[in-house]
Amino acid sequence: MALLAKRPNGTQDVVPNEVYKWQTVESVVRDTAQQFGFREIRIPTFEETGLFVRSVGDTTDVVQKEMYTVSSSGDKTFTLRPEGTAGTIRAVIENGILNDGLPQKVYYTLSCFRHEKAQKGRLREFHQFGCELLGAASPSADADVIALADSVLKRLGLRNIVLNINSIGCPECRAKYREALKAYFEPHRSELCATCQDRLDKNPMRLLDCKSEEDQAIAKDAPLITDYLCEDCAAHFETVKKQLGIMGIDFTVNPKIVRGLDYYTRTVFEFISNDIGAQGTVCGGGRYDGLVETLGGKPTPALGFAMGLERILLTMEAQGCEFMEEKTCDLYIAAMGEAAAEKTVEIVTRMRDEGFFVEYDLVGRGLKAQMKYADKIKAKYVIVLGDSELESGSAKLKNMATGEQTDISLGEELLDDFGAQYYELMMSTDDDFRSFVEAFADNGDDK
Ligand code: HAM
Repeated sequence: MALLAKRPNGTQDVVPNEVYKWQTVESVVRDTAQQFGFREIRIPTFEETGLFVRSVGDTTDVVQKEMYTVSSSGDKTFTLRPEGTAGTIRAVIENGILNDGLPQKVYYTLSCFRHEKAQKGRLREFHQFGCELLGAASPSADADVIALADSVLKRLGLRNIVLNINSIGCPECRAKYREALKAYFEPHRSELCATCQDRLDKNPMRLLDCKSEEDQAIAKDAPLITDYLCEDCAAHFETVKKQLGIMGIDFTVNPKIVRGLDYYTRTVFEFISNDIGAQGTVCGGGRYDGLVETLGGKPTPALGFAMGLERILLTMEAQGCEFMEEKTCDLYIAAMGEAAAEKTVEIVTRMRDEGFFVEYDLVGRGLKAQMKYADKIKAKYVIVLGDSELESGSAKLKNMATGEQTDISLGEELLDDFGAQYYELMMSTDDDFRSFVEAFADNGDDK
């Protein structure tokens, strides 16, 4: 049979057999963000195009080449979000969140769309976990936001992730630096790639980020932003580094980190994995003190970061990190005959109401095929119900891992009896269950 439509290039399906990996990452990022005081925000998938042009910047690759834009009635155009910051700041301003006391801290997990050449770790639809902290100008805020990203990566079990930090100064120091860069690159103009010749006029800092080997060779001795920082920006950067030291977070100062989006000021940073090839930046972020005002809000210092979840997962797989175990069926009830099938529905309903994960036959299979299916879905226990079990009011409960069988009543005691068996099994086989029960018991002792 020919498939009538295929998955678009640069997109991914997450099939049920793989989704536990995503759920592991999503639960770690959510718990860690909450622990640092961030609350979730959800924003639309598309925004007015002008939002991205004004924030991300009209000279960036994202805006110039990568946006998915559609026009609607009139001359309005809308764009699928290429990143989460612009929409989040728009929503924070529009909903008056900054009036609720500062700082405001929000996080999001969302899909982003960029029309890039797809390759390993570079997709056209990808997912970001991001955090934005608004209303704090202090260098402690920079260190705290970096610490949050660092904690997430460590809690996921990732190793050998290098943190690069830099300061790209404020608009004043940056203006001087731009002039210095222009003066440095101008004599090499004709040797630069076509994109960089254009960048030289519009956004010379982006030249430092060019992937062409020839351009990188020319850029090797380019002036460094760190030599152009004004006193305040330099002092801010020194304190960020000092605080990271106190927090025990290793970093490298890399004056060539400029980031691909225009809204940044002062501290910028990237976490890089060397285990997934060329697209190794798993997290990028920085301060953007002018953005809230640019988008129509009161002047408000702010900063944040976003992690590419596909790249995080690729690195976790490459490093053999552990994922949360997938939940499997607690009990499968195999039934023979109409009366048993009816009793099964009654029992399944009761047990699901109690919170157990219970399945039964929905396709009219014979007993042998039902048992095979129970095995395939890794059911922990199976009960077989037939006429004789209905008559006696009791059945065999089979532990599928050991093959051990015990009698279980089908009456009122069923839930308690099953619960007791289940508890013993989980205490002896599931570390998370055991630690949860033990922690609960400890808490009880304290009271
Ligand atoms: P960004 O560096 O453009 O920053 O993207 C953040 C992360 O998203 C990257 O480090 C990477 O892991 C992932 N990413 C970007 N493009 C792709 C792609 N085509 N395929 C797969 N993953 C990708 C931002 O988006 C900023 N909004 C981050 C930020 C938040 N800065 C302050 N607050």
